[in-house]
Amino acid sequence: MATARDVAVFVGSLRKDSINRKMANALIECAPAALKLGIVEIGQLPLYNQDEEKEPPAPWVAFRNRVRPADAVLFATPEYNRSVPAPLKNALDVGSRPYGQSVWTGKPGAVLSASPGAIGGFGANHHLRQSLVFLNVPAMQQPEAYIGGADKLFDANGKLTNDSTRKFLQQFMQAFADWIDANTKS
Ligand SMILES: Cc1cc2nc3c(=O)[nH]c(=O)nc-3n(C[C@H](O)[C@H](O)[C@H](O)COP(=O)(O)O)c2cc1C
Repeated sequence: MATARDVAVFVGSLRKDSINRKMANALIECAPAALKLGIVEIGQLPLYNQDEEKEPPAPWVAFRNRVRPADAVLFATPEYNRSVPAPLKNALDVGSRPYGQSVWTGKPGAVLSASPGAIGGFGANHHLRQSLVFLNVPAMQQPEAYIGGADKLFDANGKLTNDSTRKFLQQFMQAFADWIDANTKS
């Protein structure tokens, strides 16, 4: 079998009990063997300030060095006030600079949003996609993943208990593996 693709996973919430972190873990469980996924933390990143590029903070450098060699990127995010939570936008900005050295360019991506609300984080999902267009991340269009009522899908240990959601996540991850293959040169 060819080497598994290295997929960097980003969780848009910093909350310990985050639904989206549980979703990210469920996505990892549901992925085909062709993908090797790992969560890349974003909560330690200082807020982006272009003045700091002369001597970039160590967490920015470590983050860029982790994401740069990844084959693909996967986002699981809540919606904050109909948009992308600030820590995730900050991570996108940190990874995008210095100018001309973005770690995102050309990496196939996928987006899932989850919320206790009925709309399933649609606004955040699409605002994130807007940034991904500029960052030259080809983001998988289908299946779309807006998971509403997501607080009801896990048990007390954070395990996914809903079978139809599990089936959907398996389909989503298989489609993402195919998307990565279709959007990777070698
Ligand atoms: C600052 C803030 C803004 C929020 N705005 C929205 C929103 O626009 N749409 C929505 O569906 N839920 C919104 N919520 C509720 C979140 O969906 C809910 O807290 C969710 O559990 C957050 O994701 P997490 O569990 O992964 O941390 C908001 C929560 C916070 C703290």
